[in-house]
Amino acid sequence: MPSPQVVVVGSYVQDLCFYCDSFPRPGETLTATSRTGPGGKGSNQAVATGRAGARTLYVGAIGADAFGREAKAFYRAEGIAAKWAVKPTQPTGTAAIMVDAAGQNEILVCLAANARLAKADLPLKALREAEIVITQLEANLTAAAAALKIARENDALTVLNPAPMRPDFKPSILRYVDILIPNESEFVELINRLQPDNKKKLTTAALMKLPLPQLHQLCGTFGVPVVIVTLGERGCFISRADGYLEVPAFKVKSVDTTGAGDAFVGGFAAGLLAQQRDLAAAARHGCAVAALSVTDPKHRALHAPRRGHPTLPPTKPLIHPS
Ligand SMILES: Nc1ncnc2c1ncn2[C@@H]1O[C@H](COP(=O)(O)OP(=O)(O)O)[C@@H](O)[C@H]1O
Ligand SMILES: [Mg+2]
Repeated sequence: MPSPQVVVVGSYVQDLCFYCDSFPRPGETLTATSRTGPGGKGSNQAVATGRAGARTLYVGAIGADAFGREAKAFYRAEGIAAKWAVKPTQPTGTAAIMVDAAGQNEILVCLAANARLAKADLPLKALREAEIVITQLEANLTAAAAALKIARENDALTVLNPAPMRPDFKPSILRYVDILIPNESEFVELINRLQPDNKKKLTTAALMKLPLPQLHQLCGTFGVPVVIVTLGERGCFISRADGYLEVPAFKVKSVDTTGAGDAFVGGFAAGLLAQQRDLAAAARHGCAVAALSVTDPKHRALHAPRRGHPTLPPTKPLIHPS
């Protein structure tokens, strides 16, 4: 097998989804319809990357249980390579996801085996040979930082999706990151963490109203070469030292936006490879894959269209601030 182009190190959780008219109140029992399936930000991003056409290896931790066996079978069926660290003392991660009639969700995630993903579980050869290495903050933070460090030392492009933001997040991981992809709430939290002395905390409402040159300037706070802020149905914003660009979302009838960010990251990574590392073209590809993912009620985060790239109009160069 040729070595993977993209290695995704991150979480796998079994999603247990419950669809109800309204959320139960404390002490109340309601009936619901349900569906279970593979999830977890890391795994979602690996599946999106693989389905969007990049040769992908997913690296994650599971338990020696039925959900873990289901995870392995799912990857075999998808034809996406996976390296599993099986943690015999831990169950596979799970998420209880409740969705009400208005499409709002409430989610509890139990990381379980994911939290035990260790540096020793990382596939060194694949990380060294990869073109792109992607991670998030949903598995083990030490392993995530180690993966990015190895990748960076071997000239792979490193991508961090800082999700979910958590209390034990250490900004030192940013030194290994080439491309940081937060959504709007993660961006706000990162800024407020890095500028704790600012009296006026940034809010998502304020962020959405910021003039683009100011947003570009704020992106510079992280000391990361490229920042891409995903902005939900608005699309995304690309910031690099030499310029910035807002890439609009595709207009679609959205049914369920859960996992849109994961689909974006996967589509973006596959787009970088397919479009000679053109950032704007890759971001448009990420938006296209994410747009398709929000239109499908069944697949939620699972995501990208299978194989093949949507045809994208040519992109504009970055705007160079004067
Ligand atoms: N309603 C929508 N219509 C079209 N595209 C969408 C919609 N919501 C999200 N997207 C696409 O998905 C990307 C990620 O969504 P976002 O909400 O920013 O991430 P997250 O899922 O992490 O909260 C956006 O940049 C956009 O391209
Ligand atoms: Mg969002």
